Amino acid sequence: MEITPHQTATADVKLRRTTDLASQLTNAEWLASFPGTNEQKASVRNCTHCHTLALVTRSTHDAAGFVPVLARMSDYPPLSFPLMPQKLLARRIGGGEDPLEGRQDARRRQADYLSSLNLSSAPRWGYELKTLPRPRGSATAVVYTEYDLPKRTRQPHDVILDADGMAWYASFGEQILGKLDPRTGKVQEYDVPVLKPRSPTGILGLRSDKAGDLWLGLQFQGGVAKFDRHTERFETWSLPPELNGDHVQVNQVGPGRRDVDGKVWLQDAGTYTVLRLDVASGKFETFEPFRIPRPNIYDVIPDSQNNGYFTVFGRGDLGRIDAKTGRITIHPTPTPRSGPRRGMMDSQDRLWFGENHGDRIGMFDTRTERFQEWVVPTPESWPYDVTADANGDVWAGGEFTDRVLRLDPRSGQFTEYLLPKPTNIRRVFVDNSTKPVTFWVGSNHGASIIKLEPLN
Ligand code: HEC
Repeated sequence: MEITPHQTATADVKLRRTTDLASQLTNAEWLASFPGTNEQKASVRNCTHCHTLALVTRSTHDAAGFVPVLARMSDYPPLSFPLMPQKLLARRIGGGEDPLEGRQDARRRQADYLSSLNLSSAPRWGYELKTLPRPRGSATAVVYTEYDLPKRTRQPHDVILDADGMAWYASFGEQILGKLDPRTGKVQEYDVPVLKPRSPTGILGLRSDKAGDLWLGLQFQGGVAKFDRHTERFETWSLPPELNGDHVQVNQVGPGRRDVDGKVWLQDAGTYTVLRLDVASGKFETFEPFRIPRPNIYDVIPDSQNNGYFTVFGRGDLGRIDAKTGRITIHPTPTPRSGPRRGMMDSQDRLWFGENHGDRIGMFDTRTERFQEWVVPTPESWPYDVTADANGDVWAGGEFTDRVLRLDPRSGQFTEYLLPKPTNIRRVFVDNSTKPVTFWVGSNHGASIIKLEPLN
């Protein structure tokens, strides 16, 4: 259609039934369609992180052909994806729960099952393709805008807005920090320093401190970076050599209350420990909440006093590290093995987080030490991250469903906005400066940034 500036153009679209339903299935819909036991399905859920299940179901490997493919997959770190594969240099130490690292017999069983799901024996799938109910009512009162990034290899795992309304993203597999001006669509990119040239590149956590400086978790580069938006300069901190082996993977950084005591929280997924950086001296302290073998510690989030709260993704707990004494306390979530993943602290020191394995949104009131949980409407949503907006609504995204979740915690009512394309939703962000609020997310495998404007 033709769009003329400052004029409204209308196009009435006539829909017809699709002849290629498979191309529209989300990971959750593929999983619902798969025959097999829950244990069999569990063995393929991890195949959704670096690409969609469509790559698996459209493949033609038989069981024997799948075995070397699975061995290859287990050599990739999570930041690898088909447009930019990178290899692990070393496995994590002290963890031991890598689902792709299974024993030979488990891998053969997995290969058998996978070859029953793909096109190895017939040109069409031998099972019915199931779809979830389409959006209706308030879930359709929404405008989506998609901004393409300069290269297909950009994986905007985290997207956040600054006080000037600029959207910032860091590439999950590249040393790139980018700035998008939503008014013009113009993108400017900055090269993030390389600290360990032999190791995989890429950034996971991107968070702002109170002064508006941006902090980056440099994953296998073994440190953190700070970016000053005004001077456009980076400053970096590498872990000291004795803590900085090839296995090190600094995914998360929690600079939010650095103003309290000059300290920034971070985490290492290579050892599942929590660390704290004293910014002025450059000294790191290490906290080991668990003995080996340790459960996966995923995120670390400060409260208003800069105490460090961490999510125990490998189990179902939140931990707290006292900022002054270093004392560690553990709080189990009401749902066992809920897999708390990422989250944020609201202005009342309530920690909101995604129960990734429990299909729930969790909230821990750090002042009363009470939990609350809300079951998400769609099974296999896998909420990764949660953020509370200034009006009291809470937002999350289904990693497997491509649906953005909006919860009114007072009524328990959910709205699910279906995104137009496969998005691999991770970090979620809300801009409170608009009315209604605006929701932002990066399309981690689609090299774009998506803006979602609800009309109410
Ligand atoms: C850590 C990231 C990662 C995970 C997890 C992952 N893959 Fe992959 N996958 C890749 C990358 C990178 C490529 C492209 C390079 C390649 O083919 O080795 C790929 C490609 C593929 C392909 C197409 C290439 C081919 O040889 O047919 C298939 C099929 C596949 N993966 C299956 C799987 C299955 C099954 C699982 C789960 C058991 C899985 N992947 C989990 C990263 C991953």
